[in-house]
Amino acid sequence: MRFVLLCLSLTLSTSPSWSQEALGLAAPADVKDSGLLQHILPRFSLKTGIRVIADDGGVLVLETEPPGDPVFTRDGVIYHLRIEGDARHERFRDWLLSDIGKNTVESFTPEHGAPFSARFEVKAAQTDTVIDGDTARGEELSMTHCGRCHVIGPKNRMNGLGSTPSFAVLRAMPDWSERFEAFFALNPHPAFTQIDGLTPPFDPARPSPIHPVEMTFEDLEAILAFVSVIKAADLGAPLQLQ
Ligand code: HEC
Repeated sequence: MRFVLLCLSLTLSTSPSWSQEALGLAAPADVKDSGLLQHILPRFSLKTGIRVIADDGGVLVLETEPPGDPVFTRDGVIYHLRIEGDARHERFRDWLLSDIGKNTVESFTPEHGAPFSARFEVKAAQTDTVIDGDTARGEELSMTHCGRCHVIGPKNRMNGLGSTPSFAVLRAMPDWSERFEAFFALNPHPAFTQIDGLTPPFDPARPSPIHPVEMTFEDLEAILAFVSVIKAADLGAPLQLQ
């Protein structure tokens, strides 16, 4: 008897989808009024057992602007889906972005207005790298602190030290961000680098051999932001450090 009960409770607990709370989806009025949600949500739920319902206070949010994944468009407006890092949310997003999801969106004929389209180009502007204050500051800081030895970019092309890898070469390494995050601990930097609150002071017996690099953790973050947007060297050719 106990065994049977155990089996029963296992079955119940492994098919929990319908008993799980429904996910709410908030959407702009024109999407709600069009009837699109009543068309797509039951189809998604049937397919996956995950219930999503229209709900203005929902955790899933459709918005007419980024952030979020662009999922469909109508009349020049691109609707973006914002989710949280939850497996059921991701399932819904992935479904909307799949062929089946797109077909479901496009098979809907609204009573008024144009149909929704799920196949469209997202303007490149959105993915273009934005040079924000941080990256600009990061470039300056790189020139000041690192440009003595490293070629940072065209501006100090002639100044780098022959044996020192350029930032473009370092950027091309798959683990570039780890190297930059830890550069102060990687030779030759510890001998001359001080980062506020991070590195121990120089040993008085072994002062920095050169004018020290002194910076803060925020400076390093700005340098990382800058390096993230520079063009990596093409290492297709045999690796040359300079
Ligand atoms: C005094 C010269 C000098 C300065 C200043 C300097 N570096 Fe370097 N850096 C080097 C040399 C030389 C190497 C190559 C070390 C090697 O190949 O072993 C290097 C290597 C690196 C590496 C790769 C390390 C590794 O082991 O993978 C990174 C990342 C780096 N530097 C970042 C920086 C940053 C960021 C700054 C400025 C905040 C900076 N460096 C300032 C001389 C310098």
